[in-house]
Amino acid sequence: MTITTVRAVVPAADPAFRADVLAGLAAPQRAIPARWFYDAHGSALFERITDLPEYYPTRVERRLLQTHAAAVAAITGHGRAVVEFGSGSSAKTPLLLSAVDPAAYVPIDISGDFLRDSAAALGQRFPGLPVHPVEADFTRAITLPPMIEDAPRLGFFPGSTVGNLIASSAVDLLRAMARTLGDGAMLLIGMDRIKDPAVLIDAYDDAQGVTAAFNLNLLHRINRELEGDIPVDAFRHIVRWNDGIARIEMHLEAMRDLAFTVSGHRFAIAAGETIHTENSHKYGPRDARLLLAAGGWTSVAEWANADDQFVLILAEATPVRSAP
Ligand code: AVJ
Repeated sequence: MTITTVRAVVPAADPAFRADVLAGLAAPQRAIPARWFYDAHGSALFERITDLPEYYPTRVERRLLQTHAAAVAAITGHGRAVVEFGSGSSAKTPLLLSAVDPAAYVPIDISGDFLRDSAAALGQRFPGLPVHPVEADFTRAITLPPMIEDAPRLGFFPGSTVGNLIASSAVDLLRAMARTLGDGAMLLIGMDRIKDPAVLIDAYDDAQGVTAAFNLNLLHRINRELEGDIPVDAFRHIVRWNDGIARIEMHLEAMRDLAFTVSGHRFAIAAGETIHTENSHKYGPRDARLLLAAGGWTSVAEWANADDQFVLILAEATPVRSAP
């Protein structure tokens, strides 16, 4: 007799997710790192955010790439291996690849399924282009696939994703990228500018409530993956402009006194207290260059739109021990 056991497919909880959530919920200012937004639901909600009328960064950056990719290629030359950090849906990548005629494309993302799907789609669009997806956390230095060993590297880090990190972590990341990409590397990075706070707040608190759903999905994800019983309806999406450090903050505010359990741990949160879920730093021209310089990169060309809402910066790895 054959007995077949069929188990429901429960996603195995990521131990790093559990550790971040349990520590983050116990801290005096509760905080959970923004990288945990991006489960399948969260990634789909983020794609919807990029189409919102209030969320200008994606549109402006795409336009900048359309307009200036040829100027980028004139500096980088052809035949580099393009390495994209946090490639997600790779939506903007074709604009760059068409212009720089790369030797290979290496998308790096923590979300493996998403990564393989978008890598396959990109391979179809560029027949003959070697595509080597790497499933990894790009905040650490990564060993690139051996096949691209000889080609000089062009890193691509669009979306102002660097803005999710506080300065010290952003510097660590930029230095890890310099190590990953090696000598002679260049980096094309998108950075969101400081601007009228009302415009920024609208971009993160849209009329349709998609960003609110994106933020609240983090609590649903905790309930799904970490045996949580958080009453999600008792939280609301909050957006603040922190002018002192030029960043948008997203929080989840408890609308009443609450108690709940996550992975067997009890938590209590009082009405009006928040869980800090995201920072999105904004950069003036000198802020951007200073951050890059601290991370080992020298800006060599910059393209912003007429309103200076968003900038694409092409930087080169600073040779060690240049300058005083
Ligand atoms: C993808 C991290 C750049 O900070 O603007 C969008 C994420 N959060 N709306 C950003 C996000 C809320 C986005 N990044």
